[in-house]
Amino acid sequence: MSKYHVNKKGYYGPFGGAYIPEMLYPNVEELQQKYMDIMQEESFLQEFQELLKDYVGRPSPLYLAKRLSARYGANIFLKREDLNHTGAHKINNTIGQILLAERLGKKRIIAETGAGQHGVATATVCALKGLECVVYMGEIDIQRQAPNVARMKMMGATVVAAQSGSKTLKDATNEALRDWINNPIDTHYIIGSVVGPHPYPDLVARFQSIISEETKKQLTEKTGNSSPDYVLACVGGGSNAAGMFYHFLEDEEVQLIAVEAAGHGVKSGESAATTALGKEGVLHGSRSILMQTEDGQVVEPYSISAGLDYPGIGPQHAWLYKSGRGKYVSITDDEAMQAGLLLTKLEGIIPAIESSHALAYLEKMTFHGNENVVICLSGRGDKDLDNYMKYFGF
Ligand SMILES: Cc1ncc(COP(=O)(O)O)c(C=O)c1O
Repeated sequence: MSKYHVNKKGYYGPFGGAYIPEMLYPNVEELQQKYMDIMQEESFLQEFQELLKDYVGRPSPLYLAKRLSARYGANIFLKREDLNHTGAHKINNTIGQILLAERLGKKRIIAETGAGQHGVATATVCALKGLECVVYMGEIDIQRQAPNVARMKMMGATVVAAQSGSKTLKDATNEALRDWINNPIDTHYIIGSVVGPHPYPDLVARFQSIISEETKKQLTEKTGNSSPDYVLACVGGGSNAAGMFYHFLEDEEVQLIAVEAAGHGVKSGESAATTALGKEGVLHGSRSILMQTEDGQVVEPYSISAGLDYPGIGPQHAWLYKSGRGKYVSITDDEAMQAGLLLTKLEGIIPAIESSHALAYLEKMTFHGNENVVICLSGRGDKDLDNYMKYFGF
């Protein structure tokens, strides 16, 4: 594996590892020891690929957005993860993890969710496999992502409100970890991003790497070249970006751009721009970069988009940032909302507000006319219609 992937000890440069309470050792160690063997089993690979094809609807299209391209003066391709079953990239990971959980003999699934997309994707695969499902979600996110809460409940999941802190994703993650400590034997925790103790960042990135695997083939068919000039993705914890970057990491000609949420502005005090504001530390079981006070308390993040409203990034992203392999930037609420509206008007595609952050960065780039740009359209905007309507006053 390359210098950008996890090493045998579970680290990306100085980041990663498994910083967990002793009571979680058995669960995490079991995963560490078994995940690679299980993921390489013939029967696992076959079922994973079949479900991605027939249930999720992969490969997701790589769409050349002509009107958007004309506006910015580059060939802009959208990797349409929004067209996946359940509406976002999250399902790639939950399909992989439910197959892993089955093979570990687990009967009960827990998950945390911010935008609700990961919660929906988890509830979906639990319905598919007939497993009990409990989803932790911040009270604030329950309010701003009501359609997704309804979906989870309809699929038989129990949705538990996290009432502490900012009542968003970080707090939901804390609750899920607490549950796992209390239920170590029969429960698998499906983490929804490339965060958490080793091996989660690696296994989630592997499940999401289908995004760049397909992109390379599709781009070759469309342009004769598998490498674009730029690849862009939004970053909450960083799973769609990790999947979108995965097969381009060694190809240093490809510029990787990760877009964080600046909320009301990086310096406004209401932001989730982790690399701009954060320092190295430990959050949710791994060493990474996170927003924290002088004495190490986690700073409450803010973004209009629930999926990016997280004070950290996964350890691989921390390493890509620190090593300079990736460029980490941020986009405000206002810039993202305008970009979402623009895509809707120019292409007839309503993006998730998370994905709108990646789209918004196009405004800040300068092109010379023929560059190929791939943007991960991580999800569809159905869940965000209320927010778009309120913001624009429709
Ligand atoms: C559509 C969409 N995009 C992006 C994200 C951010 O997550 P990640 O950074 O793990 O891709 C989310 C999270 O819920 C999401 O729903």
